[in-house]
Amino acid sequence: MNTNKRYSAWWLRMAALYLVTGVALGNYMGATHDFSLRSVHAHINLLGWASMLGFGLVVQHLADTLSARLVAVQFWLHQCALPVMLSALAALMRGNPAVEPLIGLGSATVGVAVLCFATNVWRGTGAKLRAA
Ligand code: HEM
Ligand code: HEM
Repeated sequence: MNTNKRYSAWWLRMAALYLVTGVALGNYMGATHDFSLRSVHAHINLLGWASMLGFGLVVQHLADTLSARLVAVQFWLHQCALPVMLSALAALMRGNPAVEPLIGLGSATVGVAVLCFATNVWRGTGAKLRAA
């Protein structure tokens, strides 16, 4: 199987796991009326479920034109950094300000991963546009 298609399937699998986690946390917040982790819930759902769903579908759609190396680099940067960012954010919201540098590190790394994605999509669609 084309490695980009493999990564696409893994984006979709991870997206589904983040959806389950985000929805579970949303239900917990609703049931307990404890909204202190609202931002964690929002970003589990948005950087986890919604973004990963998007990455998975785009990588599947452009599997033949995207750089396999950039697809892999983006996947691993995002998958490693997001849990660090979100667990540190949860700790901050629970009153532990010492974790703030970890949120910064996680967020900046997710930012770099997103730049890899954007570069890859621009390059991949450029090749398609020239061929059209
Ligand atoms: C059964 C599923 C879900 C439940 C029970 C739930 C529950 C909640 C609750 C209780 C809040 C806090 C509201 C407040 O502080 O006033 C919240 C906020 C939020 N939720 Fe969910 N949620 C669910 C699914 C989702 C999904 C799937 C997404 C995104 C794809 C999402 C995105 C957000 C966002 C962005 C906020 C923050 C809104 C703001 O700051 O105004 N939620 N959710
Ligand atoms: C590394 C990437 C990101 C960083 C560092 C970041 C950072 C932030 C920060 C600092 C806030 C304010 C939180 C608060 O006031 O409690 C916020 C809120 C929000 N962000 Fe992000 N964000 C990122 C990615 C995204 C993405 C990709 C989406 C949508 C797809 C998104 C949607 C939202 C929404 C809806 C809110 C308001 C909900 C809330 O109260 O938490 N963010 N974000």
